[in-house]
Amino acid sequence: MIEKQIAAQKAVEFVKDGMTIGLGTGSTVAFLINELAEKVKGGLRIKAVSTSSSTTHLASLLGIEVFDLNKVAMIDLTIDGADEVDENLDGIKGGGGALLYEKIVAKNSEQNIWIVDSSKLVKKLGKFPLPIEVIKFGSEKIYNNFADMKLNPQFRMKEGKKFVTDNGNFIIDLKLITIENVVETERLLKSMTGVVETGLFNKIADLVVVGVEDETITLKKRDQTKN
Ligand code: A5P
Repeated sequence: MIEKQIAAQKAVEFVKDGMTIGLGTGSTVAFLINELAEKVKGGLRIKAVSTSSSTTHLASLLGIEVFDLNKVAMIDLTIDGADEVDENLDGIKGGGGALLYEKIVAKNSEQNIWIVDSSKLVKKLGKFPLPIEVIKFGSEKIYNNFADMKLNPQFRMKEGKKFVTDNGNFIIDLKLITIENVVETERLLKSMTGVVETGLFNKIADLVVVGVEDETITLKKRDQTKN
């Protein structure tokens, strides 16, 4: 079993009967959805809220009922992957392009658990290109602004065309190398008109389950204050 699958298996233990569960996006979450589907077949009752069309597709295919976020009172627990996680449990997400729905679902969850393999743990965020979701209109102007700010922007591409998110937006990945101040970077980027969301997830994860070889370690947030 690979580390992503081991982390996913461990995280399923946090899912209790009757919970509303936020399902993240990505290859690690795909393992989780498979595990959860087995439990649902065995009688576990959950409501799921999805963060992407790919997650909705997989969950529905495997018999997990997916609800509109607007139709559930609150999400008890969201389990998602991440591209990088630092010592404060801040992270970069959006490698799969689902950062906007992922952040909305996370912010409406009582508890957030991330599941990652050991390669995702870093001292400082930034080596993984930071995804910025921007509206299409005027996106080349925002791109130029990023370039002027020396943020090394790159439009995300798919099959020779600009990648389009579930919300019909583009993604510009910023090659920052290292992010010294997560809060300030987030504030600056979010203040730019045309930016819809950033892949910086600050003070969102409560717990990170890391697959390390054939075991897991669980990292807990020290500071309990939430945005
Ligand atoms: C999706 O947009 C991302 O935030 C994913 O959660 C992240 O890229 C992790 O993906 P993997 O589980 O595929 O590594």
